Amino acid sequence: MKIYVDSADIAEIQNGLDLGLCDGVTTNPTLIAKTGKSMMTAISDICAIVEGDVHAEVLSLDAEGIYKEGKEYARIADNIVVKIPMCHEGLKAVKRFADEGIKTNVTLIFSTSQAILAAKAGASNVCPFVGRLDDISIPGNELIGEIATVFDNYPEISAEIIVASIRNPLHVVEPALVGAHIFTIPAGVLEKMEKHPLTDIGIAAFLQDAKKFT
Ligand code: E4P
Repeated sequence: MKIYVDSADIAEIQNGLDLGLCDGVTTNPTLIAKTGKSMMTAISDICAIVEGDVHAEVLSLDAEGIYKEGKEYARIADNIVVKIPMCHEGLKAVKRFADEGIKTNVTLIFSTSQAILAAKAGASNVCPFVGRLDDISIPGNELIGEIATVFDNYPEISAEIIVASIRNPLHVVEPALVGAHIFTIPAGVLEKMEKHPLTDIGIAAFLQDAKKFT
């Protein structure tokens, strides 16, 4: 199991590193925009502190443009993974990157058929969005289960499933039960995962009783 930080915010990423809970980082244009930095600066800043995979998303939608953008990211550091939105042209670029040994993440996956194509094209990662599916009343974890079953059925598939669009702790626990490989978690959800009211009550009770020590 790997845990990634789903953020472009250096303080949030550093917090994940300090906790030993940052095997990598995923970003997207929305997360980069929140930093106020350019894409290249934001990704370079993350690569300066993270040894694991750093996922940088392309904006182009044609294979040539995706390839050029991805190559530019790949020049920043060896741990760059080129993140490509699921689309016909994107799959062409995935194959080209795979032939050159550059890792890719096919993102915005909302069906098992999309995941199969991405994996077969040579993607290192497929990135299904559980939260956005749950938002429209389609159970996101059923998709994770299906993709995990298909990938298990075909051991030659090496693509790993990154569970994305995580909105609450159950979006980690349920996909973990069906065999997802990687969980990219926003800082707020990581914090919620630490908490349990009975833990807080237990700590308070122990500290209270400790006052009775002679
Ligand atoms: C990460 O790779 C995804 O871009 C991110 O998890 C999407 O999350 P959202 O659906 O909350 O925007």
